[in-house]
Amino acid sequence: MNIQENVSLKAYTTFGIDHKAEFFTIVQSVDEVVEALKKAEENHWKVFILGGGSNVLLTKDIQGLVIKLEIKGITLIKEEEDQVIVEVGAGEVWHDFVCFCIKNNWAGVENLSLIPGTVGASPMQNIGAYGVELKEVFHSLTAIHRTEYSSTRFEAEDCKFGYRESVFKNECKDQYVITSVTFKLRKTPHYHLEYGAIQEVLQQHGVVQPTLETVSKAVIEIRESKLPNPKILGNAGSFFKNPTLPTSEFEKLKLHYPQIPGYPTEEGIKVAAGWLIEQAGWKGRRTGQVGVHEKQALVLVNYGGGTGAEIKQLSVAIQNSIFEKFGISLTPEVNFI
Ligand code: FAD
Ligand code: EPU
Repeated sequence: MNIQENVSLKAYTTFGIDHKAEFFTIVQSVDEVVEALKKAEENHWKVFILGGGSNVLLTKDIQGLVIKLEIKGITLIKEEEDQVIVEVGAGEVWHDFVCFCIKNNWAGVENLSLIPGTVGASPMQNIGAYGVELKEVFHSLTAIHRTEYSSTRFEAEDCKFGYRESVFKNECKDQYVITSVTFKLRKTPHYHLEYGAIQEVLQQHGVVQPTLETVSKAVIEIRESKLPNPKILGNAGSFFKNPTLPTSEFEKLKLHYPQIPGYPTEEGIKVAAGWLIEQAGWKGRRTGQVGVHEKQALVLVNYGGGTGAEIKQLSVAIQNSIFEKFGISLTPEVNFI
């Protein structure tokens, strides 16, 4: 195993922030994961697991060992009459997996096209977009315990998936390395076209009968129209979660702000944080090398050379301002390190 010292993580996270890992290694198999974990234990190094770095904000150098997951492989486990069960290595790029499914006519992940990052990180926050969440196609996952080195299988109910939540962000935080994720995908599509502008875009392209490919293309087009490409402008997607309010609280706000967008959920009304941030005057605002994206106020950006501390400071200023104006606390979606 090749362990490097003092490695800049600038190219390994989508915010493009230049902090270093004291020690850094890339692992391509489950055995290498165990080897790296044992090495860290021997040397009393802290461990940090990195996928595609698209949901982390580095605010300092990382002391200890950064293990970057690059376990590859897509295996068809079982084919049934109406579904397939597919196991995917944690280091596969999420969007490559989506494209593989579309090519094979396996339905379920097309609305999740173009989400950056790896398959292994997808259960961490139960990734979601355009009316679909990972939990709807999730079958199970395999993870290695970080100090006992045993392999454990988690079924869907063990993962306690919620909106941008899972057991791995809570009770099991920092305890496991996810090495593979198994999906159940339909052979006959059941399209989710009701969310956002999907239907509108399909119509614009003259699509009468949607296919996995046309739906995926529509999602990509919508995403590209508002979300910055991290290769051009550093960001980590939505910086905050959309807050859920009790219905009564939402109704009170609606009296003052009749335009406020709200979506009913089982827990209450989910409010668009991007709208709140825009109303508070932050959209497109820039402070030095960091700022709020001009097309999507929920996305904080690094124009180049910005620091994690500056992004963090900006995020706190936004939180304070939203609390002052609307009495709503915004919770970051991004993982601070
Ligand atoms: P990383 O950023 O590397 O890691 C995220 C967290 O997971 C860290 O705490 C890390 O330690 C942990 N982790 C990573 N891999 C493993 C593993 N194998 N085992 C254990 N722990 C692990 N998210 C959405 O849900 N929906 C969207 O629509 C969406 N759009 C985005 C758009 C843009 C432009 C960007 C930049 C981000 C977007 N995101 C979105 C956020 C991000 O893409 C997802 O959270 C993604 O799943 C992160 O994957 P990653 O491999 O980059 O994880
Ligand atoms: N809005 C504004 N101003 C803005 C941004 C948004 O008024 O600057 C309003 C929009 O007009 C719309 C509403 O807010 O009425 C929702 O906006 P959008 O459809 O862009 O989605 P979002 O709620 O901002 C969420 C996810 C995204 C996901 C999209 C599509 C969260 C935190 N974010 O964004 O996920 O791609 O929906 O499903 O749930 C991510 O998690 O990183 C991410 C990008």
